[in-house]
Amino acid sequence: MSDQVRDAVVRTQVGIVGAGPAGLTLAQLLARRGIESVIVENRSREYVEARIRAGVLEQGSVDVLTEAGVGGRLAREGLRHDGIYLQWPEERHQLNFPALCGRSVWIYGQTEVVKDLIAARLADGQELFFEVADTAVHDVESERPSITFADAGGAARRVECDVVVGADGFHGVSRDVLQSQLAESRRRTWQRDYPFAWLGILADVAPSTDELIYAWHPNGFALNSMRSPTVTRLYLQVDPAERLEDWSDDRIWDELGTRLGVPGWTLQTGPVTDRSITPMRSFVSTPMRHGRLFLAGDAAHIVPPTGAKGLNLALLDVTLLATALEAFFTDKREDLLDSYSDDALAQVWRRTHFSWWMTTMLHAHGDDFDHQLQIAQLRYVTSSEAAATSLAENYTGMPLPPER
Ligand code: FAD
Ligand code: PHB
Repeated sequence: MSDQVRDAVVRTQVGIVGAGPAGLTLAQLLARRGIESVIVENRSREYVEARIRAGVLEQGSVDVLTEAGVGGRLAREGLRHDGIYLQWPEERHQLNFPALCGRSVWIYGQTEVVKDLIAARLADGQELFFEVADTAVHDVESERPSITFADAGGAARRVECDVVVGADGFHGVSRDVLQSQLAESRRRTWQRDYPFAWLGILADVAPSTDELIYAWHPNGFALNSMRSPTVTRLYLQVDPAERLEDWSDDRIWDELGTRLGVPGWTLQTGPVTDRSITPMRSFVSTPMRHGRLFLAGDAAHIVPPTGAKGLNLALLDVTLLATALEAFFTDKREDLLDSYSDDALAQVWRRTHFSWWMTTMLHAHGDDFDHQLQIAQLRYVTSSEAAATSLAENYTGMPLPPER
């Protein structure tokens, strides 16, 4: 083999496609267990660190990130929230999570999670290729799968490994590789596209609320979230065909003020630093494993953001996978790898249901009968302790009860 070809081949235990929260967290959990990995990511470090998405972490996610060695800044800067507000015109009600189910959630942006994970990875001197092109996954039915790609300089590279993890998000390549190797009878996808999208903004202004406000309004849903004591994150339900250029800052703030307004409360406005429109869908692809290829996070499933579950689910997947891979590499046990897909999907479907339920309860779309049902449901959830506890358990991510 020539020197050039040898340099182009890297040998590792776990090859990971995607440096989002799933791939990066898995790599850190594996490193803590003495298992080597290589990550390939097609975007730049700057892009990945600036991609604004999730903001709510379940306690379980905080625990996983702490175990992964990146809990320091999260503990210092994360904001503990003991509840949320649910609202409809003229009425705002708090649900107190510790009182209902003994748990809380944490506000800490996905951008910060990703920055912490990348810094930890690079500080450990572990391989992470950014700005790769032409990622492809090979030989997943063999014991020597591999990932090929062109690195940032355009050179062809190959990562040879024992296991490949596809953590490359909804638009990645891994899911297709997995699905294409399975007979039609052994694979399945489920999808629900909702007839609305979220227009999200980030604004340099102190949050006008101490906890998140989820607001039903006949004009559409609105959410008042935050990133820090000085940065507010807000969302408006819009039609998926809506164009950002039709939404001036004044129009956005006016509409937020209308939908979030209750007597005696004012929404503070400030400079908008980021804006985007995101379509909403539910999607599940099964199985999450074939041969030596495992899917984790958005590569296998998407939930609408109303339940704040996507990032948390990605971290649940990789927690299961890290334990299963440790059993495999240290004790040559394959039982946890074999049950990974079913174990992960049990969590996925619970959260898929919760995300669908929150979405259905809170998004108005023109039918007066549906609107009355939604208000009735909101009144019930905010007045019945049993119903409120159910929401609180799901929102804070209570572990699933053992199967009977
Ligand atoms: P991703 O974050 O998508 O990461 C996948 C990575 O793979 C990316 O870096 C991508 O560039 C890379 N990649 C893709 N293709 C390739 C390839 N061919 N080769 C190499 N690399 C590749 N979740 C919550 O829990 N709480 C919230 O409050 C919340 N709010 C949200 C708000 C919005 C507006 C949106 C859009 C999402 C929200 N989510 C939320 C969902 C959450 O952001 C995602 O579930 C999470 O990013 C999933 O992480 P992941 O690592 O699986 O995928
Ligand atoms: C966010 O802050 O981005 C956020 C919070 C709660 C959600 C969705 C998004 O349900």
